[in-house]
Amino acid sequence: MANKEGEISYPLFETRRATSGWLIIYRFFSFSLFLGIFSIFLYRFSYLLNIVVIHGGKEEEEDNEDGKSWVIFSVGLLGAELFFGLYWVFTQALRWKPVFRQTFKHRLSQRYEQSLPRVDVFVCTADPEKEPTMMVMNTVLSVMAYDYPTEKLSVYLSDDAASEITFYALLEASSFAKHWLPFCKRFNVEPRSPLAYFNTLSFPTSSEDSVWTKELAHIKKLYEDMEKRIEDAAKSGQVPRYVRLKHKGFSQWDSFSSRRDHDTILQILLHRKDAQNSKDVEECVMPTLVYLAREKRPQYPHHFKAGAMNSLIRVSSKISNGKIIMNVDCDMYSNNSKSVRDALCFFMDEEKGHEIAFVQYPQNFVGVTKNDLYGSHMEVFSELEAHGFDGCGGPLYIGTGCFHRRDVLCGRKFSDQHNAIINDCNNDNDDLLTMESLQKQEQESKPLASCTYEEQNPLWGSQMGLLYGCAVEDVITGLSMQCKGWKSMYYNPERKAFLGAPLMTLGQALVQQKRWAEGEFQILVSKYSPPWHAYGKLSVGLQLAYCNYCFWAPISLPTVYYCIVPSLCLLKGIPLFPKISSPWFIPFAYVIVAETSCSLLEFLRCGSTVQGWWNEQRMWLYKRTSSYFFAFMESILKLLGFPLASGFAITAKVSEQEASERYEKEIMEFGASSPMFTHLATIAMLNLFCFLGVSMEALISEGGLIRVLEKMALQIILCVVLVLINVPMYEGLFFRKDKGRLPTSVAIKSTVFALSACGLFKALL
Ligand SMILES: *[C@@H]1O[C@H](CO)[C@@H](O)[C@H](O)[C@H]1NC(C)=O
Repeated sequence: MANKEGEISYPLFETRRATSGWLIIYRFFSFSLFLGIFSIFLYRFSYLLNIVVIHGGKEEEEDNEDGKSWVIFSVGLLGAELFFGLYWVFTQALRWKPVFRQTFKHRLSQRYEQSLPRVDVFVCTADPEKEPTMMVMNTVLSVMAYDYPTEKLSVYLSDDAASEITFYALLEASSFAKHWLPFCKRFNVEPRSPLAYFNTLSFPTSSEDSVWTKELAHIKKLYEDMEKRIEDAAKSGQVPRYVRLKHKGFSQWDSFSSRRDHDTILQILLHRKDAQNSKDVEECVMPTLVYLAREKRPQYPHHFKAGAMNSLIRVSSKISNGKIIMNVDCDMYSNNSKSVRDALCFFMDEEKGHEIAFVQYPQNFVGVTKNDLYGSHMEVFSELEAHGFDGCGGPLYIGTGCFHRRDVLCGRKFSDQHNAIINDCNNDNDDLLTMESLQKQEQESKPLASCTYEEQNPLWGSQMGLLYGCAVEDVITGLSMQCKGWKSMYYNPERKAFLGAPLMTLGQALVQQKRWAEGEFQILVSKYSPPWHAYGKLSVGLQLAYCNYCFWAPISLPTVYYCIVPSLCLLKGIPLFPKISSPWFIPFAYVIVAETSCSLLEFLRCGSTVQGWWNEQRMWLYKRTSSYFFAFMESILKLLGFPLASGFAITAKVSEQEASERYEKEIMEFGASSPMFTHLATIAMLNLFCFLGVSMEALISEGGLIRVLEKMALQIILCVVLVLINVPMYEGLFFRKDKGRLPTSVAIKSTVFALSACGLFKALL
């Protein structure tokens, strides 16, 4: 056995399981919760059985006067609880056996530095208004500056808006990169997004006169000049005339008629074999840089991001044909220049590498406020659940920060054969491309991004590339790979690999969640449905893990029921939970306390605050009662053949000044009127009225307080929690004056709806 680190016998990555002690404690805890949940079902069943027997025997019990009407509510609660219980089982799959991965990049370098594969990086942007051009350029620059042999790195920007300004900005960025890349290398800069890097610096005093200070001042000046030119162009809406004349690429816009109707626009801005223009200021080769706006025609579906990705896969196969493809959203810059190497440690591992289809990094965010008002951090997902997912057989593909093997993306079936991805194209370095051959390559690649290409090659979108027809094209694509037998890896390094901007308003967060929930529901009824069709193809753990997401839309129903019915029943004094004195109270109390403290502990462990946890609970509730609920309703209508025109709303990332000030202060941003807000506000108002109603009753009647509490404690607690969690909602409805408040129309509508619901309920039953 060789014992040198470089020898094959040492793996390139290592997998660690969670400490067994903690895991055993957790499993015990989980089992006790299971017993608690089971007892709740027992209670409901025995209770219902009792009623049936009593009513069957025509025996009237004092407490059960309106027994008939509450049976139906209890049946509903039982249904809801059964669903919650089932969902709880899904969540356990994500906690059962988390794994943690570690890579050994030095071994990778020792063994394969000379034969590293080519890597193609795809950055997708779709709308220059919602995704500011400078943000996109910072992302592009950060990935161009990866610590990786530049002749093997290619960066593609897909611009679905086909904006001339974006093209111009990329042109500017490619010139700036000629200074930025050597600067990064020289001073080992981290992170390599210029803006993020400048923001980390507390600017040095002028007395320090090192080389670095001078260079830094120089590069900063270059950056600011570039920024000014790009922003001027963006403001005026056009590219300066002299630039337009100088670069032939702009002539491709001559035939442009609209965003949805234009030819393929493809421009290779830098090419590793282009000796004249593609060297940096220190005469080193630059990474290949390509701009692509695929052809769009009104009569052809464009399939959103999946369509863009598939065009990129095809076009890149002609230009650089990297064996590894990485894709990242335009708002997520690379925060770690070594991420490519980390990912390759998985793919190139001699023993396990050949089974791996993709390596997923978490999505992390910068600029989230301390208590994370909209739950945008998703820490529990990235620090805990995704590790559990990995332990079940591999995480889901979340559409950004992910490295894929090209052949698997193109539909290769899994086989147990070792299929090395070591570079086999080292011999093509010699022949440099002339200007003409570069143009020829562009012309040859263009048809691959045309609308008709997929008509002639219909496998794209069904068996090759990202799959079409699902709002979460990424998740279903990853799932289809796993169904074919491929594995995936989750890699969550200490220093985060990708950082993005969080959503800044409640509306944005809810719309995004709604789209995801719709997509997940589509997966549930697709031919890859994790609970059904994936049986036998995925491990049971992985099936359950996927169910956590597929059931987002349906789980909204029991949640809405739980938020409305028990509170309404308070008004009529109908108890739906056991009394405090009853032994059945214990399982309820145990499940509530245990589940709450477990979730709180998880949150704190992932680095959040108590207030952050509370905010997350609110978002949990809002997502389920609005995003998921609307997603469910619309999906069902669509299945029944009443499609609603709900566009693929891009979630905007820019906010006005005032709004971002409110964000800093953690004041909830509502702003516009939306059916989802009305729905949320109605539930909030309803609970407030029910709470007021029951309090009045308890105070008026003699000894009422004690009696009501004794009889309906859990129900009152539920109602009070719902009222407390909705405090920002009441503020937005009635007390705030700023622009981010809820419109008066929503306040009126929700009050009317809630009052009439309470009134009807009281009158009719
Ligand atoms: C991003 O990178 C910087 C330096 O490279 C590091 O200090 C910081 O912790 C990273 N951010 C995160 C969230 O990991």
